[in-house]
Amino acid sequence: MQLLGLTLQSPFVAAPMAGVSGPAFRLMARRAGAAMVYSEMVSAAGLLRHQPQTLRLTRSLPGERPLVLQLFGASPRQMGEAAAIACTLGVDALDVNMGCPAKKVRRPGAGSALLEDPILAAEIMAAVAEASSLPVSAKIRLGPKSDITEELVPRLVKAGAQVITLHARTTRQGFGGRADWEAIKRLASWCPVPVIGNGDVTSGRAAVRMLEETGCAAVMIGRGAMGDPWIFSRAVARLAGQEPQPVTPAMKRRALAEHLELAKNLGGEGHAIHFIRQFMMWYSRGLPGASLFRRQAGACHELAPLWELCDQFFLEPEQMEPEQPEQAA
Ligand SMILES: Cc1cc2nc3c(=O)[nH]c(=O)nc-3n(C[C@H](O)[C@H](O)[C@H](O)COP(=O)(O)O)c2cc1C
Repeated sequence: MQLLGLTLQSPFVAAPMAGVSGPAFRLMARRAGAAMVYSEMVSAAGLLRHQPQTLRLTRSLPGERPLVLQLFGASPRQMGEAAAIACTLGVDALDVNMGCPAKKVRRPGAGSALLEDPILAAEIMAAVAEASSLPVSAKIRLGPKSDITEELVPRLVKAGAQVITLHARTTRQGFGGRADWEAIKRLASWCPVPVIGNGDVTSGRAAVRMLEETGCAAVMIGRGAMGDPWIFSRAVARLAGQEPQPVTPAMKRRALAEHLELAKNLGGEGHAIHFIRQFMMWYSRGLPGASLFRRQAGACHELAPLWELCDQFFLEPEQMEPEQPEQAA
């Protein structure tokens, strides 16, 4: 399928997630079948000031692409200038964050605060589109308190957004309640550009169901892929009418070994311990003995014993994991 001028292998993409969707997460998602991945949100102001912690978020690894870099900011000028820089960073498209409910993002007027000012949102979109040599998109929520997509989306499309991703919750909802898939269906029925549906896809089956029930062009998966990149391969298999392969502890161990190498290369051993522990916690979720394993792993401050624990834990053959139970929409 075609999206943002790119040929994608499947309609399943990995969500931008601050603190999560770094290079290792994205690479794993891509290998497991995500057709496209997104960076964590990157501050336009930070990029313009060359802040080291912002620049770190723009690093990527071979094998990740297609990669979309997501920017956030509240000033059309800054967002335009940041977009021009972002286009030089080896990515394939730019996305504008119009959905983040975090206070520190909203306070200066960025993220979901833009839903309260559709005119400014469109000005930002236009500035990014004008400055960018790459395709551009917007990731939105339904609105501050109710569905305002009919007012907002035409403005964004007119300003140059070539794809709209809808996390089908209001700002007020945060991450609570249920994502409103009916709203994705409504938007997809009239939106002149492709809509990526997002919210509460926690299984391969649910990913296919969102495609079928809403008519969206693609499905974005966030929390369901944290610690479970294989959700993408299950979605791809389900879409092809095939039974997905079970995820084995050995597969998780192999993924952890890869994460470890990547983490060491990206940030040295100290960084690797912190980093690999996070993935170990995720990958152990739902497996027998996980809470003891987590306690032991939490108390390990050196890489060698941590890895030994991992070896022992992830090689138990009886720890076969079935697909997560389907969530009713
Ligand atoms: C830890 C975390 C960090 C997130 N960071 C971002 C972000 O940087 N940019 C963004 O647009 N959305 C961000 N989101 C929202 C997700 O991209 C997604 O819209 C949301 O989690 C709903 O999808 P899901 O139900 O598949 O998780 C974040 C969500 C989580 C849980």
